[in-house]
Parts: sequence; C-alpha cells; structure tokens
Amino acid sequence: MSRRLLMCAGFAIGVSVAAPAAAGPLDHPGYPKAFSCSACHGFAGNSRSDAMPILAGQHAGYLKKALQDYAGGKRPSAEMEPYAKMAIELGVDDVASYFASQTRMPTASAIDRAAAERGKAASAVCAACHGPTGKGDAAKDMPDITGQPVGFLKNQLLLFKADKRSPGDAALMQPKAIIKGLPDDTLADLAAYYASQR
Ligand code: HEC
Ligand code: HEC
Repeated sequence: MSRRLLMCAGFAIGVSVAAPAAAGPLDHPGYPKAFSCSACHGFAGNSRSDAMPILAGQHAGYLKKALQDYAGGKRPSAEMEPYAKMAIELGVDDVASYFASQTRMPTASAIDRAAAERGKAASAVCAACHGPTGKGDAAKDMPDITGQPVGFLKNQLLLFKADKRSPGDAALMQPKAIIKGLPDDTLADLAAYYASQR
C-alpha cells in the first residue's frame, strides 16, 4: 500500500471516529455547570454512596426548589449551601435539567428484603402524595424517591420527624405530622421499601 493510500485510510478512520455518537451526559449544556457536584453525587448524578442522594432522573422542578431552599438557608445543610449558591450563580435551570435528563441507576446500597416488605405494608399513608410506588409528581415538585440510597432516605425521614429539614415550613406540616407518628423502625422499613422500588 502506498504512503498516500495509508494517509487516506487514516483520514477515513479519523472521520468515522468524529462522527456524532448518541448524545451522552457530556453533551448537555448543564454538564460543565454540574461538574463539581459529581465529587459527592457521583458521575451524572448517580451516587453510589449510601448517604448521598441520587440526582439523576429527579424531577427538574424539585431539584430547583431544593437548590433554592439550601441556598436561602431554608433547608439547612452546611455541605450543600455553598454548592447550591454556586449552582444558582451558574444557572440553576441548566443544572436541574441536566440531572433530570440523566437515567437513574438505582442505589448500590444493600437492601434488607424483609424490611422492604414491612415498609410496603406501611406505605399507604405516603402514597397519597408520593404515588403508589414513590415516583412522585413532576407538576407538584413531589420528589421521586424510588431507588434512592437507604441511608439517605432514612436520614431525611429522621430530619422530618425532628423538624430539622426545612424547620417550621408550613407547606411540610402535613407529611411531618404523619412521619412524627411513626416509630424509627418503621421509618427504616419505609426507607428500605422505597430504595427497592424501580
Ligand atoms: C461535599 C459534598 C457535596 C457536593 C460537592 C454537592 N452536594 Fe448536593 N448534597 C450533599 C449532601 C450531603 C446532601 C444531603 C443534604 C441534606 O441532608 O439535605 C445533598 C443534597 C442535594 C440535593 C437534594 C436532593 C434531594 O433528593 O433532596 C440536591 C438537589 C443537590 N444536593 C444538588 C447538588 C448540586 C447541583 C451540586 C453541584 C453544584 C451538589 N449538590 C454538590 C453533598 C454534596
Ligand atoms: C401530604 C403530602 C406528603 C405525604 C403524606 C408524605 N410526603 Fe414525603 N414529601 C412531601 C413533599 C412535598 C416533599 C418535598 C419536600 C421539600 O420540598 O423539601 C417530601 C419529601 C420526602 C422525602 C425526601 C426526598 C428527597 O429526595 O429529599 C422523603 C424520603 C419522603 N418525603 C418520604 C415520605 C414517606 C416515607 C412518607 C410516608 C410516611 C411521606 N413522605 C409522606 C409530601 C408528602
């Protein structure tokens, strides 16, 4: 094969590599704005940690509300407040729509099947707002709690119970009153149930 032909072959390969592939997480305009979040929330918002929430596939309106609540100090979190302020500075709609458009990989946390069964039996009081399996409602900023890490869900339920999540928020009085009436063991079962849902 001549040198010229080899160059042509090389050029052809170069072109085929540069051909547009299916849009991936890196192609979204929100990706560069969400880059620093991956240190805690995992690549494309698919946290593999038991304590950190998964952001991938969450409703955009809820993500935006959560970031505004952290930034304004309404939902206290020393870890999140500076990042929420940064996300708002960079463009909260792009950041929220980036994570909302990613496919959720359910939690890698180990799930106790017996606890999840007990949680399912206790979940009727939650279904009115969170839906039959916990998918929430995008139109009402109701979060999708399916496949979230067990540890994260349990911790949030304990924060609601102690009125430490968005303390005093009138809009959350009703769920907090329900959660306050449940023993911690039942909250752990509910966390296992929603973590097991897909
Ligand atoms: C240093 C670690 C860390 C970094 C970096 C970080 N987060 Fe978080 N994030 C957390 C923790 C911890 C929580 C849970 C806080 C709580 O208890 O409310 C959280 C919660 C959230 C939630 C609420 C999720 C839910 O389901 O309620 C959103 C939304 C969020 N983070 C978005 C972001 C975005 C966007 C960035 C990047 C701009 C970011 N985070 C960077 C640690 C981090
Ligand atoms: C009256 C409606 C209502 C009921 C009933 C309700 N919730 Fe919620 N829940 C909400 C709303 C609204 C939020 C979002 C709060 C916010 O914006 O910070 C929420 C948030 C949560 C979160 C935090 C999700 C996240 O990603 O941060 C968990 C976990 C949760 N609920 C679990 C439950 C469980 C378990 C029950 C049943 C024991 C329940 N909820 C009952 C309305 C409700």
